[in-house]
Amino acid sequence: MEFTTIKYEKKAGYAIITLNRPDKLNALNKQLFTDLNEVITTIELDKDIRAVLLTGEGKAFAAGADIKELNACDGRSGKHFSEFGSKVMARLESMSIPVIAAVNGFALGGGCELAMSCHIRYASVNAKLGQPEINLGILPGYGGTQRLTRLVGVAKSMELNLTGDIVSADEAKRIGLVNEVFDETELIEKSIALIEKIISKSPIAVSAIVDTVRASTILSLKEGLEYESKLFGEVCGSQDFKEGTLAFLEKRKANFIGK
Ligand code: COA
Repeated sequence: MEFTTIKYEKKAGYAIITLNRPDKLNALNKQLFTDLNEVITTIELDKDIRAVLLTGEGKAFAAGADIKELNACDGRSGKHFSEFGSKVMARLESMSIPVIAAVNGFALGGGCELAMSCHIRYASVNAKLGQPEINLGILPGYGGTQRLTRLVGVAKSMELNLTGDIVSADEAKRIGLVNEVFDETELIEKSIALIEKIISKSPIAVSAIVDTVRASTILSLKEGLEYESKLFGEVCGSQDFKEGTLAFLEKRKANFIGK
């Protein structure tokens, strides 16, 4: 499949999406969101793909929404500008397979928001993250006020959003914005190792965990626990659950088949 602003590679059991406008630091323009939206559909329809790695070509993950396109917005089109990108990121976040961001450099504004719509973030030591929209006289439009707050807490989110300050990868890890930090040369290898570890497990249990953990950010504790019990019951009906528990009792490695 050919895209103009992203690269799509199908590997054994997972897919790699690479944002591919390196001369513009992978700034997120309308075409890129259109391509991303389409590749999400491609992945959703492909049952062989059990995890996604999202990264950027060149020195940026993504340096934000395309400021040239943004500059053309007015009161009406600005809302649409925000809604389109936000919708694509919500689709990515709602995938029932794990989506891992390998943050290979600048992840600013929409780039940081895109990384936050992934389920796990690994970063390279040179990565820089933040929500500098305030410096453009605007607020984040793809979830920067919402997902960042859920990840790092109200006070830190207020500070980052109000100052536009950019944080290093190490600081991002300290505040819970990224999971791990690796040398630049190791980032992709470590991200793939994480994906391979996850896809060696039962895809049914993996999807149920992605779904329930994500639900915890929108449901009350009571609703979330009820939802967890519901999915727990459903997963107990799977062959993988029988195999996993039996393998433990028989002191052998489980052979999961995704049924
Ligand atoms: N939208 C559109 N174009 C962008 C962009 C964005 N968000 N970020 C970078 N670019 C373009 C630059 O205009 C430049 O294009 P040109 O070569 O045609 O002039 C190219 O990408 C390289 O960027 P440049 O600024 O020269 O790189 P740098 O290494 O000196 O600086 C940054 C890197 C990330 C600090 C700087 O590009 C930047 O501040 N970008 C905007 C970040 C931002 O405010 N994001 C939030 C957007 S809502």
